[in-house]
Amino acid sequence: MLNEVLWLSEDDVISLNISMADVISAVEEGWRLKGEGKVEMPAKIGIHPRENCYIHAMPCWIGGGVDTCGEKWISGFPENLQKNMPYNIGLFIITDSNDGHMISVMDATYLTTMRTGAASAVIAKYFADPKSSKLAVIGAGTQGRISVHAIKTQFPALRTVAAYDPLAVQLDKLEADARAAFNDLEVVKAKSIEEACKDADIVITCCPVLANPQRFVKKSYLKNDVLCIAVDHDSAFCADVMTEAPVYVIDDRGQYEYMQGGGVYFQGYPTEQEIYAEMSEVIVGKKPVVLKGRRTAAPMGIACNDVMTARLIYTKAVEKKVGTWVKH
Ligand SMILES: NC(=O)c1ccc[n+]([C@@H]2O[C@H](COP(=O)([O-])OP(=O)(O)OC[C@H]3O[C@@H](n4cnc5c(N)ncnc54)[C@H](O)[C@@H]3O)[C@@H](O)[C@H]2O)c1
Repeated sequence: MLNEVLWLSEDDVISLNISMADVISAVEEGWRLKGEGKVEMPAKIGIHPRENCYIHAMPCWIGGGVDTCGEKWISGFPENLQKNMPYNIGLFIITDSNDGHMISVMDATYLTTMRTGAASAVIAKYFADPKSSKLAVIGAGTQGRISVHAIKTQFPALRTVAAYDPLAVQLDKLEADARAAFNDLEVVKAKSIEEACKDADIVITCCPVLANPQRFVKKSYLKNDVLCIAVDHDSAFCADVMTEAPVYVIDDRGQYEYMQGGGVYFQGYPTEQEIYAEMSEVIVGKKPVVLKGRRTAAPMGIACNDVMTARLIYTKAVEKKVGTWVKH
């Protein structure tokens, strides 16, 4: 029916048990198609009803064999943690590429969590030491926890996660979550950011995005050969961690230009001209992989990652007859 959508709640989406490995493959494939020029994706736009909060609209069409259109409407409210609510809450709409009819409306909260972890894993697949054994996570909330899953999925030899968070309860949750999923992973609840970063092969920061960032991860905390991934824009890594690194990759040049040009985010970070590569350029071989020195990345979160993950969710839901068809 052209006026019916498949409604997928958060419980529906979670019940599909989509593996992190599948999301990593889907996100990488979306980036590959972007590198081949088969993705139409304007920079995400946003509104900001409260301080440090955002609500973004993220449309995208992925062509090629995927031929899927969709848009995410996603909020980010740092103070939701105190209300026991997720930082990011969203919905995703899939629209038919042939006639524009709406196919599915799904929860995008879990989708966002999964695809963001997967994006870090894809970056690490190309830029981290393949023998990475220690991960540092700064900010042990939802994204911190999923980063552990994603990096451990990509690097089964990972042995240690050192996490830092000012809230002990968050560290306890990350530890319990990691222990339940992996029996060969030591979790260290670090007392400081410096302790967490010591000897880490990969450092991922997942702190609140702030209009006036504090930037507390110093380059002196990092070993020489390291991959730094900022999931939280420019909130945690000091600017020279990025500007003095030979490699600074992002997920979309247009998005970066739009955000840095807006005068709030990425101030003092590398300019668009100083970016080493967009991930899509690395995946299609336009830019070489670098495995020595400090490699840095700021994946801002882009719609092609969402479309690929939403498509995976929708396909599995139809296969397993999960969800409710709703008239509109
Ligand atoms: N780049 C992307 O694609 C993408 C996607 C989703 C979310 N995000 C961002 O990821 C970040 C984390 O999201 P989340 O869902 O995990 O939020 P969350 O609220 O679940 O967790 C944030 C954690 O950061 C901790 N924290 C606060 N200040 C800190 C500090 N100074 N040092 C260390 N930890 C600190 C908090 O205690 C909390 O545990 C947000 O900034 C969000 O916007 C990015």
